Amino acid sequence: MIKKIVVLLLSITTTGNVIAQTNKNEVTLNQVKLGFALNPNGVPTYTVSYKDKVIIQNSSLGFKLADQRPMDAGFEITNIEKTAKNESWKPVWGETNTIQNHYEELTVHLKEKSEKPRLLDIIFRVFENGIAFRYIFPKQTELNYFIITDELTEFNLTGDHKAFWIPGDYDSNEYIYTTSPLSQIDAWKVQKAATDIAVRTVPDQFAVQTPLMLKTAEGLYINIHEAALINYPAMQLHVNKATNGLSSNLVPDALGNKAYLHAPFSTPWRTVIVSDKAADILDSKMILNLNEPSVIAETEWIKPMKFVGVWWEMQTGKSTWSYAENMDKVDRNGKLIASGKHGANTANVKKYIDFAAKNGIGGVLVEGWNTGWEDWFGNWKEEVFDFVTPYPDFDLKEITVYAQSKNVKMIMHNETSGSASSYERQLDTAFCFMNKFNYPAVKTGYVGKIIPRGEHHDGQWMVNHFNRVNQKAADHKVMIDVHEAMRPTGLHRTYPNFIASEAGRGNEYNAFSNGNAPEHETILPFTRLMGGPMDYTPGIFKLKGYASGDPGRQVHTTLAKQLALYVTLYSPLQMAADCPENYEAHPDAFQFIKDVPTDWDDTKIIEAEPGDYITIARKGKNSQAWYIGAITDENARKTKIALSFLDKDKSYIATVYADAKGADWKEHPELYKITKTKVTSASVLTLELAPGGGAALEIVPVDSK
Ligand code: NOJ
Ligand code: CA
Repeated sequence: MIKKIVVLLLSITTTGNVIAQTNKNEVTLNQVKLGFALNPNGVPTYTVSYKDKVIIQNSSLGFKLADQRPMDAGFEITNIEKTAKNESWKPVWGETNTIQNHYEELTVHLKEKSEKPRLLDIIFRVFENGIAFRYIFPKQTELNYFIITDELTEFNLTGDHKAFWIPGDYDSNEYIYTTSPLSQIDAWKVQKAATDIAVRTVPDQFAVQTPLMLKTAEGLYINIHEAALINYPAMQLHVNKATNGLSSNLVPDALGNKAYLHAPFSTPWRTVIVSDKAADILDSKMILNLNEPSVIAETEWIKPMKFVGVWWEMQTGKSTWSYAENMDKVDRNGKLIASGKHGANTANVKKYIDFAAKNGIGGVLVEGWNTGWEDWFGNWKEEVFDFVTPYPDFDLKEITVYAQSKNVKMIMHNETSGSASSYERQLDTAFCFMNKFNYPAVKTGYVGKIIPRGEHHDGQWMVNHFNRVNQKAADHKVMIDVHEAMRPTGLHRTYPNFIASEAGRGNEYNAFSNGNAPEHETILPFTRLMGGPMDYTPGIFKLKGYASGDPGRQVHTTLAKQLALYVTLYSPLQMAADCPENYEAHPDAFQFIKDVPTDWDDTKIIEAEPGDYITIARKGKNSQAWYIGAITDENARKTKIALSFLDKDKSYIATVYADAKGADWKEHPELYKITKTKVTSASVLTLELAPGGGAALEIVPVDSK
């Protein structure tokens, strides 16, 4: 009897808690409100509203597991905690020198109402322009080992919103964006058309990748992504067209499982950024704030920089990565049919070092310097490169000494052709080699299918691989620029040596395929760049007639827009991607690339609309100079920019690099004009952007130039 009373009392307390907590299960900050509730079956659910309008309606949370019953229902709340934070911190490098981290937090502790109950916690954070949540598997009384076969997170939207999307590909982000209502998403159609992508794996016709950018009919902007992706696969989103619902699709491993966890364990954060102003989406620092502070104690060696490279000449077919191509090719009768053209030869590399030194560009990247390129991808071969053996015409010692004498840093290139396993075996050797020859940074690459065979670029194994490489690089004081990686999730806060990545469709597609549409760069900041900086490789000056073998190929921007990209596409590592001779043909325009910083004290998103235009102003690090980049899509655009962010007590000279009359991306991309004008904080500048065009501005106080 006594036992019964105790049980009754306990259940009253529990029920009492649940009722009393219904109101407590809400958190609000500014205009954003998040609600948590267990439904009558004990299913965890949440809702989100913005300015009193629901943007995510009742959405379920939970997991399916191998060899265990699902963790998706039958829960009760054991406790709820609330806390808040409002602090600021300083990034090692970034778009601003100080970042505000302001949130209200709600932690819900759940326990199954069953025999051998398992525990699950969910932490929600509400920020000024968004929400985030993550699952925590606390230490359990029984099994602490979980194989996730599905994460059941939903984002149930309230309408058939306009979406800027790429297919849910497990191996590539290198797509142009399609803009369509959610109901029109067809990932297979796009995948089929994307014949220029090396490896494509899109099993779900209705799955898309994150960051997913959405716009509602009422003009709300919603961005869904994740933060702090560690020891877990990337999340893609399956679109349920009947309900406008999105649900988490985790990238599987070779066995079809999604993730292997040992409690205690925290999943990455699921993020939803929302505003009625598109500029606020680009301004949000929520994803960075959700990542852990730097694990690297001393960071002085991490230095943003610009670089040139023995690279575009290979992309456009003028020279080759492979040394075998260096041999003159003769036909059966001994007649010369093609002359040798290995790009990474000592004399050519020295030419780039001279160019960098002369123009104050910090680094030189050389691709194709090491053996292995004769048969480097498409064959799923394991030991293609050893990362330390130069070709005979690349004199490493001579180049090292020469670069040092010119005060230029060499940037290492480690292409793995997808064989992450052999790279891991070589990592120590490769990084010791970089240290020995003074390489402060490495560009890595993962073209082709992944080895271990059956793994995907975006699965848990590769997530761990990329993080191991970041850690190993940090141990050796080397900065990392990774290509063909999964898209970033703000981890550069934790590993500030992870200075850039590609993980999207870069400018290079203009070299070897039909390229990127003029709107592409107006979408990237709302999608790919939400998680971190992109090595887009801007700065192509010869916009037509550069591709050997295809005279019709061209870049889909004007020259002025290529300059503007140094401001609108944020990266602390920026390539001046064109060949030296093409810069030498336009020294006046190249001046902007020489001057533009790669690290910033402040950033103002002046105006933005995904797919249409972006204008951003940034103030250089430890500098009084401001730089503006304005870009448009295929439509010409006239815009007025108020310079109210300038110091009220100063007057400035603005150098405006603009599209000239008659310029457009298609016929006359190389028409630009450079003007200088005196401005103050009261000035309003009118910029006229050509179709596919842009403008780049440098605004310097009068006394400093
Ligand atoms: C693809 C990278 O994106 C590109 O920059 C590089 O040149 C090639 N792989 C070769 O590694
Ligand atoms: Ca457009």
